[in-house]
Amino acid sequence: MAPVLAIESSCDDTACAILAPDGTILAETVLSQSGHIPFGGVVPEIAARAHLAALPGLVRQTLDAAGLPARALGAVAASTGPGLIGGLIVGAGVGKGLAVALDRPFIAVNHIEAHALTARLPGLVPGGAPFPYLLLLVSGGHCQCIAVEGVGHYRKLGGTIDDAAGEAFDKVAKMLGLGWPGGPAVEALAREGDPAPWPLPRPLHGRPGCDFSFSGLKTAVAQKLAPYDNGALPRPVAAGIAASFQDAVADIVGDRVAHALDMMPDATLLVAAGGVAANSALRARLDALAQARGLPFAAPPLRLCTDNAVMVGWAAIETMRARLALGLPPVDDLDLLP
Ligand code: KG4
Ligand code: ZN
Repeated sequence: MAPVLAIESSCDDTACAILAPDGTILAETVLSQSGHIPFGGVVPEIAARAHLAALPGLVRQTLDAAGLPARALGAVAASTGPGLIGGLIVGAGVGKGLAVALDRPFIAVNHIEAHALTARLPGLVPGGAPFPYLLLLVSGGHCQCIAVEGVGHYRKLGGTIDDAAGEAFDKVAKMLGLGWPGGPAVEALAREGDPAPWPLPRPLHGRPGCDFSFSGLKTAVAQKLAPYDNGALPRPVAAGIAASFQDAVADIVGDRVAHALDMMPDATLLVAAGGVAANSALRARLDALAQARGLPFAAPPLRLCTDNAVMVGWAAIETMRARLALGLPPVDDLDLLP
C-alpha cells in the first residue's frame, strides 16, 4: 500500500491529511470556517461554498507538507456521510476527481466510523485499542454510544432523542450572550461560577438504556435566565448558570455512559470523541467512571477528537486492510454517492 490522501468536509471544518499505510501521519491541514460566526451556527450553503473555495488549495498544501508528488499516493478517501450534504458532495467530488486523474481507488468513509476508529491510530492509546470498546461520540451534530466491535462492526447502543450535547452547549452559550462555538466559552465561564443556587434537571438520568436528552435542560436554563430578560445579566449569575449547566451535562453523560457500559460487559476500553470531549469536567467524569470499572479511558488529542481528515485516512486504511485480510477485492467507491 502507498500513502492515502484523505478529505473531511462534512460540517464546518475543511481538512486534508496524508497517512502512510502504517498510520504514520505524513501531513495534516485543517481550516475552520469563520463565515458562520455572525450567524451563531453552521449555515449549510456557506459551508459548502467555503469547502469548494478551500479544498483544492488545501490538497496541494498537504501534498507539499508531506513532500510527496500526487503520483506517490495509493488511494484517495473522503467522508461521504453523515453530514451536511453540500459539503459532502464537494469533498467527494474533489476526492473522486483526484482519484480518477491519478488512476487510484476512491474510498468512501463513513464519518462516524472514522471517529470510532481514531483511537486505533498507532501510538494514540497505550497498548492500542483492541476491539471491542465503547465509544462516546459527543459533538455539535452527534451524541451517541457505540459498541465498536470490529472494522465495519458497530452497534449503536443509544443516542440523543433531541439535541446533540454540543448543540446544547452552543444554545446555552447564546442565551448567556457568549460567542459561537459556545462550548469552550461556557467551560471558561463555568470556572468562576457557583452552581449551587441554580439547580437544573437531568433528563433521562437513571432511566434504562443510554439515550440522551438535553432539550429539557436547555429550557430550564432559559427559565432561570427569564428574570434577566430586560436588563443586564450579572456575571456571577451567568457564571453560576454556566457551571450548573456543565455539571448537569457531565451528570447526564456520566449516567448514560455507565448504562452503556452495563450493556457492553465485554468492553475493554472507554473512548470519548467529538468536540465536547474537549470539556475537562466531562473528561474527568468519564475518567472516574472508567477507573471505577477497572477500564482505561482514552480521549484522542483535541485535533483528532474534533472533525479532521486524519481519522478519515485511518478508517480508509483499516477498511482496506480488513478487506485484504478477508481476501476481498480492493475497495473502489467511485460510484458511491454521498
Ligand atoms: O466535533 P466538533 O468540532 O464538530 C462537530 O460538531 O462535528 O464539535 C463541535 C462542538 C461544538 O458544539 C462546540 O461548542 C463543542 O463541540 N465544544 C465543547 C468544547 N469545545 C468544543 N463543548 C463543551 N466544552 C468544550 N470545551
Ligand atoms: Zn464529527
